[in-house]
Amino acid sequence: MARKWRVAIVGAGIGAEHVAGFQANPDAFEIALICDANLERAQALAAKAGIKETHGAFDDALLARKDIDVIDVCLPPFMHEAAIERALKAGKHVVCEKPLVGSLAATDRLAALAKAQGVVLMPIFQYRSGNGLRKARHLVATGAAGKPYVASIEAHWCRDMTYYQNTWRGRRDKELGGVFLSHVIHHHDMLTHLMGEVRSVSALTAIRVNAVETEDCAGAVLALGDGAVAVTSVTLGAAGNESRLRFCFENVTMTSCALPYAPGRDPWTFEPKAPKDAAWLAAALAGAPSGLEGFAGQFADFRLALDGAAAPPVTAADARRSLELVTAIYHAVRTGMRVDLPLAPDHPAYQGWL
Ligand SMILES: NC(=O)c1ccc[n+]([C@@H]2O[C@H](COP(=O)([O-])OP(=O)(O)OC[C@H]3O[C@@H](n4cnc5c(N)ncnc54)[C@H](O)[C@@H]3O)[C@@H](O)[C@H]2O)c1
Repeated sequence: MARKWRVAIVGAGIGAEHVAGFQANPDAFEIALICDANLERAQALAAKAGIKETHGAFDDALLARKDIDVIDVCLPPFMHEAAIERALKAGKHVVCEKPLVGSLAATDRLAALAKAQGVVLMPIFQYRSGNGLRKARHLVATGAAGKPYVASIEAHWCRDMTYYQNTWRGRRDKELGGVFLSHVIHHHDMLTHLMGEVRSVSALTAIRVNAVETEDCAGAVLALGDGAVAVTSVTLGAAGNESRLRFCFENVTMTSCALPYAPGRDPWTFEPKAPKDAAWLAAALAGAPSGLEGFAGQFADFRLALDGAAAPPVTAADARRSLELVTAIYHAVRTGMRVDLPLAPDHPAYQGWL
């Protein structure tokens, strides 16, 4: 029987959902402990999830533990870079929430460190693990979808000031960005997952909903690899919470479900474009993969990477691609100009978009 990987969850906010994701893969993972500087929060989560051990602030004593294989960083964004670096240097495999770090320079540095240490660094993009998106990806990968034309992304969510009542949300130096970084980063990852690299971007941001430092309304126009076009509309001031992605390809139009935080999941709608028909669609979808969804799905595939059987389902290169887009978007906002990608290491924002 393959070994179980022992995980320390560091941060008990979204860490609670990671716990459920790991526990959905009981043959692969065992959660050794919950670590949170707020020990009561760690204890509450541990008690709820049946985990015996808790730990206070993330420290060298935790990193020195030989019985922990994986450090799962669920800390606020501004703390990711230092936490990842410390964990990699301690020889641990690392999972880290989005946004991985605050610059392309840091992404490149940490990816090189992980490689040198011979460990896996897996950023979180759990929206990818959805059976609707898997079908869409199958249609694209097999060539059935044909040429990409346009995509639209709506992330229309509702947040008031209670959402910002913590130590980091809404602060530029701690959250590191607004809706482009914290929210629609998932949707843009889904976009590039289906339609390929972004070649240029124009973008606008506004703070209109809450009294915070980070943008809560924004729009972007993106040119994709072979000339397809995408538009993004995102706000935290909608009446409710809904995500919706729509992809028009030569042979099929694909629309996500509207679940705000899991638009990759079933049910998606797939409309064949004449002369393609329902029989063509059924044949094209035959053999599309399916599996666990959300964090559980990403961690199921992470296990294969730890076992050396596959690449991680999300790589440091994937996080780099998403942060390159973030960097380009904020540069476009700042300069009022369209920004072309890729960004070279001598780009003025390579060291950070802030
Ligand atoms: N993938 C997603 O869909 C998703 C959803 C929500 C949040 N996130 C990301 O997860 C990360 C955490 O967000 P959150 O909403 O859980 O934040 P949070 O503030 O609710 O939780 C962070 C926790 O970190 C703890 N902490 C702070 N410093 C610490 C230290 N030195 N040692 C140990 N614990 C420490 C805090 O006490 C807090 O409990 C962010 O990067 C956020 O962007 C991702």
